[in-house]
Amino acid sequence: MALERTFSIIKPDATRRNLTGKINAKFEEAGLRIVAQKRIQMTMAQAGEFYSVHAERPFYGELCEFMVSEPVVVQVLEGENAITRNREIMGATNPADAAPGTIRAEFAESVGENSVHGSDAPETAAVEIAYFFSGLELVG
Ligand code: CDP
Ligand code: MG
Repeated sequence: MALERTFSIIKPDATRRNLTGKINAKFEEAGLRIVAQKRIQMTMAQAGEFYSVHAERPFYGELCEFMVSEPVVVQVLEGENAITRNREIMGATNPADAAPGTIRAEFAESVGENSVHGSDAPETAAVEIAYFFSGLELVG
């Protein structure tokens, strides 16, 4: 077991429906600790760069438009195996496939508007955390 940090976003469909507290309760109840957090209005440039791995996918334009449509909450979660654990708590990308009790099963509206982002590996977690937070803003 390893103490890890992972990057999380509460997406616009969830901030719009006032679900930030309910979503973060899921993380905290599962033992993940929020060690950095801010609510921001993402810019198109930030969204495009953040999701650049998907630039060739057909949903990329719509995804970027969605991410700037309302404020988001960017945050860093810390805990044992936080990267994998966060993905388990989030559930599958498509809420139709998400296990009962997961955030996406309970709150997501569609495969695109699916309430949360979570890093998928240690390398991406490190890059994504550094994209939005300085070291001084991580207070474990
Ligand atoms: O977010 P996750 O890592 O589970 O999924 P992804 O495959 O990395 O895709 C990133 C995001 O693109 C998803 O969370 C969706 O918001 C969006 N997406 C979409 O709109 N349509 C798809 N068919 C797949 C992903
Ligand atoms: Mg992903």
